[in-house]
Amino acid sequence: MSNEVKILVGTMTGTAELVADEIVDVLEDKGADVEVLLMDNLKPDALTTGPLYIICTSTYGQGDIPDNAQDFYEALEAAAPDLSGLHYGVFALGDRTYMQTFCFGGKKFDELFAKLGAKRLGDRREHDASSGELPEDVAAEWAEEWYEGSLAAA
Ligand SMILES: Cc1cc2nc3c(=O)[nH]c(=O)nc-3n(C[C@H](O)[C@H](O)[C@H](O)COP(=O)(O)O)c2cc1C
Repeated sequence: MSNEVKILVGTMTGTAELVADEIVDVLEDKGADVEVLLMDNLKPDALTTGPLYIICTSTYGQGDIPDNAQDFYEALEAAAPDLSGLHYGVFALGDRTYMQTFCFGGKKFDELFAKLGAKRLGDRREHDASSGELPEDVAAEWAEEWYEGSLAAA
């Protein structure tokens, strides 16, 4: 598997972007070639086999995908490209105060990618903003393990 990683970011108030920046630091230290892509204006054909992808998104409204990622999600759903051969991980941000819709943003992307044939590596990691743990700390720990596991799975 290549050492290329692309992080797709869905965010309302910037936390997921901060998390993505932390993941960049961790993975670059491991020798990965990492790029952060905010999902604004992203088109389905930006997804190619080769790089590993990380979906890093929060949840808003009532279990909604953040505004900046809505168009991409809908375009992907409509175009329904065959994503078999694409590997990805999910770091979802949410808050358990929203019990019924906890981390639904990440969950929805996870389900869509899987439906299109992509293969998730490792478990989906869900950060709970009400836990008191800093999302960037949780993400750093997750990303290191995830990347090592992903290379081993290749
Ligand atoms: C108005 C509002 C609605 C939210 N709705 C949900 C929700 O339905 N489910 C959930 O798990 N988290 C929800 N959250 C929590 C955010 O996803 C969480 O705080 C996240 O860390 C924000 O990341 P961001 O700054 O990248 O958008 C909501 C937060 C706000 C302010």
